[in-house]
Amino acid sequence: MEYGYPKGHVFYRKLARTYPLVTHGDGIYLYDESGKRYIDGSGGAIVVNVGHGQREILQGMGDQMGQVGYVHGTQFTTKSIEEYGEALGEILPPDLGKIYFLSGGSEAVEAAIKLARQFHLESGQSQRWRVVARWHSYHGNTLGALSLTGRIGMRRPYLPLLVDFPHFPPPYCYRCSLGLTYPKCEIECAKALENVIQMEGPETISAVIVEPILGATIGAVVPPDEYLPLIQEICRRYGIFLIDDEVMTGIGRTGKWFAVNHWNVVPDVMVLGKGMSGGYFPLSAMITRSKFVDRLKEKTGGFIHGHTFSHHPVACAVGLSVLRFIKENHLVERSRERGAYLLKRLENLKSFPFVGDVRGKGLMAAIEFVKDQKTKEPFQRSERFTERVIDLAFEKGLVLYSGTGFVDGVNGDMIMFGPPFVIEESQIDEIIDILIRVFAQLNP
Ligand SMILES: Cc1ncc(COP(=O)(O)O)c(C=O)c1O
Repeated sequence: MEYGYPKGHVFYRKLARTYPLVTHGDGIYLYDESGKRYIDGSGGAIVVNVGHGQREILQGMGDQMGQVGYVHGTQFTTKSIEEYGEALGEILPPDLGKIYFLSGGSEAVEAAIKLARQFHLESGQSQRWRVVARWHSYHGNTLGALSLTGRIGMRRPYLPLLVDFPHFPPPYCYRCSLGLTYPKCEIECAKALENVIQMEGPETISAVIVEPILGATIGAVVPPDEYLPLIQEICRRYGIFLIDDEVMTGIGRTGKWFAVNHWNVVPDVMVLGKGMSGGYFPLSAMITRSKFVDRLKEKTGGFIHGHTFSHHPVACAVGLSVLRFIKENHLVERSRERGAYLLKRLENLKSFPFVGDVRGKGLMAAIEFVKDQKTKEPFQRSERFTERVIDLAFEKGLVLYSGTGFVDGVNGDMIMFGPPFVIEESQIDEIIDILIRVFAQLNP
């Protein structure tokens, strides 16, 4: 049976395609009702980190549902909420001690910018409200988060509804917007932040938000080693909050618990989502330092914020089960090792003339496609190169994540890989074999 617009009552995410109906998942695989098997090469939207169909997660979730499915976050707490808080606290960078549980990444980003604002207000700095973000970033789709997101195509239709937050260029060395080359550039793109702060007025800036490794918009762009420590130093110098958006990179995805661990950076606020629950339940978190929460307690008495489904007992039970599963099966190390293998195998695909850049860390990786490897000229959007790759791979049973339009707002093609951490090397070989067949079909 075929599912999709205009049949039935479901308002589908994509109106121009039909959807196979998935009956079950197992490890890195998904199966549809016709029995076709798909490799979940991107874990959905880089979400499924412990794999599909893990009984331990189901057990944790079912146990909590059997005890109590819901209590309101202003009235009660549960063992699952308390135990998950403790378990997360053990792996968080030092000083990040207070965790506000939410349901989605965008929601957690909204909470982060409000927390920074409320803290400044209650510290006698009421003029601080603006948040500086980067072009080509992705921080979510609700209006506050979209105001930060640097994905042009998603912003433009809603511009009149967005907050006018400043943006600066990302450390996208493959196409440096400043026309410089690393390491001679001396990380001018990080210094551009200071310039924005000065031009806008440092006394008006509340926070700076960064994805430590840029993901959904531009595809696994890893900054040079000096970059994030310099961003942290600039924020500290001006008394500005550093918000670390680890919705995609967090909980082991890049081969460490958190991507900032690669550079020993400790932000003021960290935002988590996606893989936190392995996709088994909607779950995210906004995490900050105790001293900021203490200020809120002293002044207003609390955080002026809230959602019906925050601090959800079942979501926290799922998060706890996922965290235990990752620890017991040493999956962060696994993500690091299998990620290195994946990147090595992807590098070899540069023999195809349209594979421009291969990048990533751990099991978060991307390929950027170009029309010309030497000049890096992108394909024209009308060629729909990414869509062709994605569709052919899907046909052959490989699911990937994609992004377009990041070179100049219109052109730019990339695919992302983010398989479950339980993936074996032989299964990475399966992914590569399918890609080779897809690329061979597209070879001019
Ligand atoms: C870094 C980052 N932040 C925030 C979000 C938004 O999360 P959600 O889609 O759960 O609202 C995403 C989603 O892709 C993300 O990658």
